[in-house]
Amino acid sequence: MVVQSLVKALSRMAKPKVVFVLGGPGAGKGTQCANIVKEFGFVHLSAGDLLREERNKQGTEYGELIETHIRNGTIVPVEITCALIERAMSQSGKEKFLIDGFPRNKNNLEGWQKNMESKVELLFVLFLSCSEDVCVQRCLKRGAEGSGRSDDNLESLQKRIQTYTNDTMPIIECYKEQNLVKTLDAGRSIDEVFSDIKDLFKGV
Ligand code: ADP
Ligand code: C5P
Ligand code: MG
Repeated sequence: MVVQSLVKALSRMAKPKVVFVLGGPGAGKGTQCANIVKEFGFVHLSAGDLLREERNKQGTEYGELIETHIRNGTIVPVEITCALIERAMSQSGKEKFLIDGFPRNKNNLEGWQKNMESKVELLFVLFLSCSEDVCVQRCLKRGAEGSGRSDDNLESLQKRIQTYTNDTMPIIECYKEQNLVKTLDAGRSIDEVFSDIKDLFKGV
């Protein structure tokens, strides 16, 4: 019994720690992850950034497929996304990760459960809760300020919001049932949100 608990504790210690960061498009996931990286030494892995990077590579076989999903606000098959995340995790050589914008739908969740869940320790899910209106306004502003993103336009945003409501919210609910979700009101200023985030990450 004691040996079993010890083995369990040791295997938990050895595993990389993961916090999933979820929220609507423009909720401030990337912004707050950058703050967390500075203050708490996590590695920030944005699934969207990893997909855009893969899309931009010369000769990648997935470029067109990824771009089509991004423009349509739909979700790229998990085999691609999860492989990018796993590779980035191992290449970093680090052990504390913010995985931003993942898992985004049932397919993402199932792929993660199959390939990664047992290899990491999921600390919690940070849910940046933000109204649809605020999300859309922030993304449009980001686009107008020159984000260069092919999905920071009203047409793509409507689709992204739909995907978020129909496909991502149920995943957040699923983690809520496991008491793993820490929800913050992300409609406030960047500093106000980060002040609450600091309380959540103290002692992690
Ligand atoms: P996400 O990664 O969730 O899509 P970002 O962090 O990229 O969101 O933020 C979207 C846009 O909104 C960016 O231009 C960012 O500067 C801005 N932003 C982020 N958080 C806030 C906030 N709390 N208040 C106002 N603007 C914000
Ligand atoms: O999180 P971000 O806004 O950068 O995501 C942009 C797009 O990348 C999403 O709308 C989606 O098309 C794609 N994406 C995905 N699977 C993820 C995360 C992002 O297909 N897990
Ligand atoms: Mg982002």
